[in-house]
Amino acid sequence: MSAGAPLRGLVSRQIADVAQRRLTDEPVLALQGPRAVGKTTLLRRLAAAHGTVVIDLDDLETRDAVAADPAIFVSGPAPVCIDEYQHVPLVLDAIKAELNRDGAPGRFVITGSTRHDALPQAAQALTGRLHLMTVYPLSQGEISGVHEHLIETLFNAPDAVVTANASTTSRAEYIERATSGGFPPALLRQTYAARARWFDDYISLCLERDVAELARIQQKAALPQLLTRLAAQTAQVLNVAAAGQAAGLKARTAENYTRLLEALFLIHRLPAWARPSAHAPLRCPSYMWSTQAWPPDCCDSRPTSSTAPNRPPYSNSATYWRHSSSARRSSRSHGWTEYPPSVTGEPTMVPRSNWSSNATTDQ
Ligand SMILES: Nc1ncnc2c1ncn2[C@@H]1O[C@H](COP(=O)(O)OP(=O)(O)OP(=O)(O)O)[C@@H](O)[C@H]1O
Ligand SMILES: [Mg+2]
Repeated sequence: MSAGAPLRGLVSRQIADVAQRRLTDEPVLALQGPRAVGKTTLLRRLAAAHGTVVIDLDDLETRDAVAADPAIFVSGPAPVCIDEYQHVPLVLDAIKAELNRDGAPGRFVITGSTRHDALPQAAQALTGRLHLMTVYPLSQGEISGVHEHLIETLFNAPDAVVTANASTTSRAEYIERATSGGFPPALLRQTYAARARWFDDYISLCLERDVAELARIQQKAALPQLLTRLAAQTAQVLNVAAAGQAAGLKARTAENYTRLLEALFLIHRLPAWARPSAHAPLRCPSYMWSTQAWPPDCCDSRPTSSTAPNRPPYSNSATYWRHSSSARRSSRSHGWTEYPPSVTGEPTMVPRSNWSSNATTDQ
């Protein structure tokens, strides 16, 4: 598939096989990830492979029925597949009770569009029994139908990736791919303008609807600007205070709001990768735009007809490698929880509707 060509049919996802394998060990698999990334599609595929159905808590009638009697729903044939579990928090307690009766592997697969560790009750309910996997947007290999082994190769045979051959990818194609990202609905759009519209609508909806579900905040109007400022720091050392100041927010509020944006997968904070004794700047947390599309408003990334040179358009494209290697390191020690949770136990992250009452993230 050439860069920017629309998706054809359902793209095979590497995470599908990994999730399938995890079910042989884990009693509860939680698939978390940004909106529209493909969680429901993945869940349906897993359910179909096991001959079960998906309980969709996005559906209001189903939601009411599950809220009225969660125990009945969680006692169905395994794996019980529940989409958007965060809509009915009680379902987690019912799962826990069910696991007390039978904690066999492969009992439940649940999905959610909010970081699990941002939901305090959720984080506590299934401690030690839940295996988290993050569904990211499609990788370039998945989009092209190529099974990637880059990380494994870099660890096992790093010399194999060094080649004297020049890339056949043109500058325009690099830009096209970088600005298209990996969200299937965006990739289905034919033009840059149509994709940009999709991303704009996506951000607006997430900030309007999902933030309101997660927390009560007073300076909602500052969120888009904060997000823009943070996105402008992509691949740089993170400075939340500066981004907050530009958006008219106090440092503490900016940090809390930034955690909200992380909880919704709108941004992705890369942890420091150096040990404390190493070079100081490397210890600062870095930062990455989680849509995997380069923020078009923050740089001149509009595709052009330029054909040369055949190299990535931005010197900071090394971020992708850092991202991957960090994920790999972390996946060894934490399963597929991609990084040490950044909002675990944070008292500032207080859900609004389902999860708690009146607290806010404002300072
Ligand atoms: N592997 C895939 N290949 C091609 N298209 C896909 C793939 N996965 C999902 N899609 C498409 O992307 C869109 C969003 O998918 P899906 O509804 O599964 O995402 P989601 O993460 O559950 O979204 P939401 O958070 O809104 O519930 C759908 O139109 C779906 O058909
Ligand atoms: Mg869904």
